[in-house]
Amino acid sequence: MTQTLVRGRLLSFVRRPQAIDDTASYRYEEDGGLLVEDGRIVAAGPYTTVRAEAAADAEEIDHRPHLILPGLIDTHLHFPQMQVIGSYAANLLEWLNTYTFPEECRFVESEHAARIARHFYDEMIRHGTTTAVAYCSVHKASADAYFAEALKRGMRMVGGKVMMDRNAPQGLLDTPQIGYDETRAVIAEWHGKGRNHVAITPRFAITSTPAQMEMTAALAREFPDLHIQTHLSENHDEIRFTGELYPDAIDYTDIYAKYGLLGPKSLFGHCIHLSEREADAMSEAGAVAVHCPTSNLFLGSGLFPLKALSRREKPVRIGVATDIGGGTSYSMLKTMDEAYKIQQLLGERLNPFESFYHMTLGNAEALSLSDHIGTLEAGTDADFVVLDAAATPAMALKMEVTRSLTDELFLLQTMGDDRAVRETYVAGKAMKAAL
Ligand code: GUN
Ligand code: FE
Repeated sequence: MTQTLVRGRLLSFVRRPQAIDDTASYRYEEDGGLLVEDGRIVAAGPYTTVRAEAAADAEEIDHRPHLILPGLIDTHLHFPQMQVIGSYAANLLEWLNTYTFPEECRFVESEHAARIARHFYDEMIRHGTTTAVAYCSVHKASADAYFAEALKRGMRMVGGKVMMDRNAPQGLLDTPQIGYDETRAVIAEWHGKGRNHVAITPRFAITSTPAQMEMTAALAREFPDLHIQTHLSENHDEIRFTGELYPDAIDYTDIYAKYGLLGPKSLFGHCIHLSEREADAMSEAGAVAVHCPTSNLFLGSGLFPLKALSRREKPVRIGVATDIGGGTSYSMLKTMDEAYKIQQLLGERLNPFESFYHMTLGNAEALSLSDHIGTLEAGTDADFVVLDAAATPAMALKMEVTRSLTDELFLLQTMGDDRAVRETYVAGKAMKAAL
């Protein structure tokens, strides 16, 4: 089997950084080597050491002086919303009803779904995202298109057919039985095929009747290892309406808890306005709150208390994500730039090591997939990204006076986007150059 030896400045995390000077939270190799074979990383470390381990005929690729990090991970976005980005709406519910639901209706056509899926994976690769967790539309055809394209590209992707049976246009509704049957069919056809993971995906409590929630509960019981994804506590009008629809629940989080959806594989998009009780319940269940900063700012949803939730006595697990098309950028760099600004407005500091931790290992931990992705450890998938902090003239100018790794990362996060991504490797293959 042929080996590839990739040379560059390696950076990967071993745990969440406690402070800006927590150098033990990451590994940095100024002249590093990554040895790749058969889609896996077989060795990582100082270039000379790894070179000595490599086969004599290993192909060498030199990315110096650029940084090599684990592939970026996006834990919440909507594949059928690529053409919804930048829709002019006052708030979440207006945005959903006016733009988003009508657009998702188009995914009943499998040709349309296949075309958008190709664009979707192109954008992931362009932006250095090697794993993403997406909502498809209600139509099984959309999930088929999503997973077929992931399989073609060899990417580790999570996704689900959305279940929704009320409060949306007719063309976007299933029924409790159809939602259940089609989700089972998607699991049977796609889960574990290639690197695909199927997620149980009730859109949110507003668009599911109690009868459909019972069906999601049944799926969660039958497939306890699958991810579950939904939305929680994003917008005040949404929270009020949800309370009217489920009058017996103590609060929004309790609805999902009652149907057995609150657990360590559960990903809840937004979680901006949680009460202390809800945050405790999330923490005790090990559920993940997924922060979507560009979306929260764009839709005016609110300021997510990332630092406050992670330093609680009962801390809440946190993921970060773009939430395309409520979100406005595919870039996880831009996403963390906006996350930083939200913490600034809350009087909190989010240091660049924390931000890069979140985009990589942090999100892998949020998905319980850190044995496979999110690090440069030997034995894990060879998904990694090459970043250039001098990618644009303006960035290059700033790099002239940038002296430390801390400042370089902060520059990448503040000014970087897809232009800073020199290459994206999926299972050891350079994908960006091939686009
Ligand atoms: N809540 C329910 N559906 C959606 C969606 O598509 N986007 C966002 N941001 N919130 C939602
Ligand atoms: Fe969303």
